Amino acid sequence: MRKNIVAGNWKMNKTLQEGLALATELNEVLAGATPNCDVVIGTPFIHLASVAATVDTTKINVAAQNCADKESGAYTGEISASMVKSTGANYVILGHSERRAYYGETAATLKVKTELALKNDLTPIFCIGEVLEERESNIHFNVVKSQIEESLFDFSAEDFGKIVLAYEPVWAIGTGKTASAEQAQEMHAFIRQTLTAKYGEAVAQNTSILYGGSCNAGNAKELFSNTDVDGGLIGGASLKVADFKAIIDAF
Ligand code: PGA
Repeated sequence: MRKNIVAGNWKMNKTLQEGLALATELNEVLAGATPNCDVVIGTPFIHLASVAATVDTTKINVAAQNCADKESGAYTGEISASMVKSTGANYVILGHSERRAYYGETAATLKVKTELALKNDLTPIFCIGEVLEERESNIHFNVVKSQIEESLFDFSAEDFGKIVLAYEPVWAIGTGKTASAEQAQEMHAFIRQTLTAKYGEAVAQNTSILYGGSCNAGNAKELFSNTDVDGGLIGGASLKVADFKAIIDAF
């Protein structure tokens, strides 16, 4: 059966010292707890190794927020999937809307990044989601379907089964404007139908589909109570341990 997952996305926040303090605090808070979901924290690249060495990685998984679309070589400033893996991280967030919008990530690039992540035994958290105009023009289902098809539908069922999806409507990210529980469930059910048509019932039912976009301590329970919402990708609220813990406790 699919996993429930609460994944934090720190984005470009926290110095190394601040990040280690946050990770240490989360580790302490979870030490005596048995979460009913997998917990992941997505830190800046340069924090990964220190954070992975600081937390109990049997309880807190560590994620990068991106990786290169090349294996290795003369690509100044890039970080490869194998480097991410070597830090102790075991997840990587790919295709976040901020990377698509500000850094020109395309469906083709994201396909290669996903391949490299899988090759290096990293679990991709692959982000999809429409912008406001697309929802208002009622093409949001087609947009999300194309994002999945173009980057992920060349994978075998076995490989696809290793991928986690995160539906993040762009209009809900960092805006305080969460999708309603109905809007989230409707899209998640549509995504699962799309996966069923391509890979069959078993793969579709086993795929974790997270919701992201202004998910917080106050609305997590309602969002997560939907049949097809298997957790959250949490930005702002992952930067405060009490809030992040409350979201974990929503399961
Ligand atoms: P937010 O970000 O929770 O701050 O809206 C979510 C995300 O971008 O992953």
